[in-house]
Amino acid sequence: MRLKNIPGAHDTLIAHPQFVVMDPAVYKGKWKELFQNNQPIHIEIGMGRGQFIHTLAKQNPHINYIGIEKMSSVLYEALLKVKNESLPNLYLIRMNVENITDIFAKGEVKRIYANFSDPWPKNRQAKRRLTHHKNLRRYEEILPFEGEFFFKTDNRILFEFSLNELLNEEWKVRNVTFDLHHSTFSEENVLTEYEVKFSSKGYPIYSLEANMIKE
Ligand SMILES: C[S@@+](CC[C@H](N)C(=O)[O-])C[C@H]1O[C@@H](n2cnc3c(N)ncnc32)[C@H](O)[C@@H]1O
Repeated sequence: MRLKNIPGAHDTLIAHPQFVVMDPAVYKGKWKELFQNNQPIHIEIGMGRGQFIHTLAKQNPHINYIGIEKMSSVLYEALLKVKNESLPNLYLIRMNVENITDIFAKGEVKRIYANFSDPWPKNRQAKRRLTHHKNLRRYEEILPFEGEFFFKTDNRILFEFSLNELLNEEWKVRNVTFDLHHSTFSEENVLTEYEVKFSSKGYPIYSLEANMIKE
């Protein structure tokens, strides 16, 4: 994701509380109050400009969605995308995944999506990968038993690393494919912005689903 400093981005985020939650920790254990219903909550970590989560929120009004992005400038672009069409089941948050347990209580999130996350190829950067076991353990703290983690990437090395991390952490992994777009799972697949970019260059898309089965 190309980064640029957008003057006024922060103020614009603050000015749109119906789309952006600026103080997410306030809602820990209380997200249902914000959504005003008991629908399941699905989140996307590193949502970028929000194409994927916005599409899902439109398609599935019976599910509540929260898009998480660490960069204000990118979140601002996501806001521009979603703000023309107010959806009661979608909120955006600026946050680093490291703080995810500060904003969700155990079992509050039913499904986590991580799409085309940064590969951080150097060994010394491995802890920053969204599928590093340090992050998987954070996800364990917010998912219920059998809560879900959905992961897609164009990066085979990151995919194999993620598969190993999940298996080592004793997650139940299913629906693994090394070529999502030519698999039986492609029919229900919702494209992300990066997915469109990489698949148009002919790169295969790797994908998996996993359940958290630690009590
Ligand atoms: C390569 S982009 C992919 C965007 C989108 N998911 C897609 O598939 O089009 C990865 C995004 O994740 C965000 N990101 C990276 N590390 C993050 C972290 N630790 N917490 C939250 N967001 C993060 C980046 O700022 C970037 O916008």
